[in-house]
Amino acid sequence: MTIAITGSGSGIGAATAAALRAAGHDIIGIDLRNADITVDLTDAAARAAAVEAVLERSGGTLDGLILCAGVGPQVPDPNLVVEINYRATVALLDALLPALSKGENPAAVVVSSVASTHLKWEDNPIAKGAEAEAFAQAGDYAGSYAYAASKNAVTVA
Ligand SMILES: NC(=O)c1ccc[n+]([C@@H]2O[C@H](COP(=O)([O-])OP(=O)(O)OC[C@H]3O[C@@H](n4cnc5c(N)ncnc54)[C@H](O)[C@@H]3O)[C@@H](O)[C@H]2O)c1
Repeated sequence: MTIAITGSGSGIGAATAAALRAAGHDIIGIDLRNADITVDLTDAAARAAAVEAVLERSGGTLDGLILCAGVGPQVPDPNLVVEINYRATVALLDALLPALSKGENPAAVVVSSVASTHLKWEDNPIAKGAEAEAFAQAGDYAGSYAYAASKNAVTVA
């Protein structure tokens, strides 16, 4: 099977890519470093180029897509946290869905977090379009708040 994995450069994504490679699958790794496709997924234009690169490498058909790239609550910039954990994840899922729909028993996996349960979707500033005020009010906790909100968004939205 041909499987694309974001966040393949380290941690959970790297371990998953290694296990799937060892099982004989063709892996297309996508990350800031140590990847088949090197890209900053917070950059929308670079994201689009990465999607094109995945389509080229896969011949336009994917059997699996694993969206694992992300940063943790320790990152202080809430916009960066939301951009990689939520917006980049959704953008890649949307853009690669047509290729995935041509695959054999296709599946997509999004890596969330238990932090997604720290708030309800209806209270999520991403859902309300109120991220700027909410994260400004969170002060030193903006990164943690953005992390929980971004993981809640990829889980529920
Ligand atoms: N480790 C944990 O305890 C834990 C718990 C819950 C959820 N998660 C989630 O699991 C996923 C993987 O976490 P991990 O612990 O393996 O972390 P990690 O830092 O080892 O891996 C994350 C990968 O994402 C990549 N990445 C980050 N920003 C990027 C960007 N702008 N463009 C491209 N790639 C980018 C990094 O380069 C890295 O290789 C993350 O989404 C994280 O939120 C981890």
